[in-house]
Amino acid sequence: MSVNKVRTAVVGCGMISNIYIRNLSKLFKIIDLVAICDIIPEAAAEKAALHGIPRIMTLEEIASSEEIELVVNLTGPTAHYDVIKMMLNAGKHVYTEKMFTTDIEKSRELVRLADEKGLYLGVAPDTVLGAGTQTAKRVLELGLIGQVTSGQVCINRNQLLNSELFRFLKNDGGALPYDVGIYYIGTLLTLLGPVKAVRAFGAPSMVHEPVLLFANESDEPWQIPGNNVLAAALEFENGALVSVLFDGNTINAEQHAMTIFGTEGILKVGNPEKFGSPLRLIRQEAGECDIPFTHGYDGRNMLDEKAFFDDYGNRGIGVAEMAWAIRKGRTNNRCSKEYGLHCQEVLYGMDLSAKTGETYYPESRFVMEGLRSGCYSSMFGGAARGDAERSLMD
Ligand SMILES: NC(=O)c1ccc[n+]([C@@H]2O[C@H](COP(=O)([O-])OP(=O)(O)OC[C@H]3O[C@@H](n4cnc5c(N)ncnc54)[C@H](O)[C@@H]3O)[C@@H](O)[C@H]2O)c1
Repeated sequence: MSVNKVRTAVVGCGMISNIYIRNLSKLFKIIDLVAICDIIPEAAAEKAALHGIPRIMTLEEIASSEEIELVVNLTGPTAHYDVIKMMLNAGKHVYTEKMFTTDIEKSRELVRLADEKGLYLGVAPDTVLGAGTQTAKRVLELGLIGQVTSGQVCINRNQLLNSELFRFLKNDGGALPYDVGIYYIGTLLTLLGPVKAVRAFGAPSMVHEPVLLFANESDEPWQIPGNNVLAAALEFENGALVSVLFDGNTINAEQHAMTIFGTEGILKVGNPEKFGSPLRLIRQEAGECDIPFTHGYDGRNMLDEKAFFDDYGNRGIGVAEMAWAIRKGRTNNRCSKEYGLHCQEVLYGMDLSAKTGETYYPESRFVMEGLRSGCYSSMFGGAARGDAERSLMD
């Protein structure tokens, strides 16, 4: 099948760029990765050499290029707003890593700008398009747990220790709810739809003194901005009530959980940060059983070479799905600006509710359809690569 590829550039060549650059250049037929860019030229040169990308461009060159249609923004959260705005103003479609921006008003402004210009603006997390969450969505649509009544979500980490390794975590957007909780919110929204009301309690991060041996000795103690612990309750438009716990002030032994309760059963969704976390279904008199995936993109590397960043799975699937939307002229790309804005507004609502003691009612809404089922990433028991990209077309 001949594909009119979408010519794409990546901005930001840090840790997460490895998986994006590999997947965008090798996994998805719809993408033609033309160039990469970083404010630090050596960072771009290193990734160009590692991944065999022939062209390095500056931000200005990308903005003025007539060739490039889509920009993938992989800078740290505090740089997102400027990069996205510049590229939208230059007439480029943009897909950005999470958080959208670190300020809800700026995110709203970017959504308006994309609307005015008639451009696509996509937002991570795209783990929600993986086999795990898409199969969970299918299970709910098929009514296997009846009507959803409630849910329970938990993720914990030592975010301060982690901020010694991933330095951007010291800044806005680095607190656990925004850096990691966003995967849980994204998955909840994908499964249950928009949130009607938010109540929460919150606590800031501790003040941290570096503990790792290789920490920079000049580092003064720091505190991650915002609430690093949130205990919240969400009321969804469909009536489901979900309790959420994000704790970044504890240890790194993750006790992640996402359980959805319904009138006829219980669904354990596993780890929303992964593309292929196992799903477990419990029904009365039937015990607990595994659910086979109904969709592809389970996070396994089906390309030839193994790499140190394989654990990041199928990231870039949201870019590819948006690229198919662009080519097919459909306006409903899944990881849409409306989805990204609603994810951020739910987190913002938690922070605001913790501060004011009042219930927050999100203004934004979104719709996300499930991907077509039955298209898998592998064939013949995993011996060959399948054509899961078909599920991203419509
Ligand atoms: N590291 C992870 O495990 C991970 C996982 C999922 C998502 N993310 C998200 O991906 C994004 C990047 O994370 P990372 O870990 O790769 O960060 P990083 O700090 O390793 O890399 C960011 C890169 O962006 C570059 N940059 C900053 N401003 C720029 C600008 N104006 N123009 C061009 N380049 C610029 C920096 O020089 C740096 O090389 C963040 O939004 C983060 O939330 C990270």
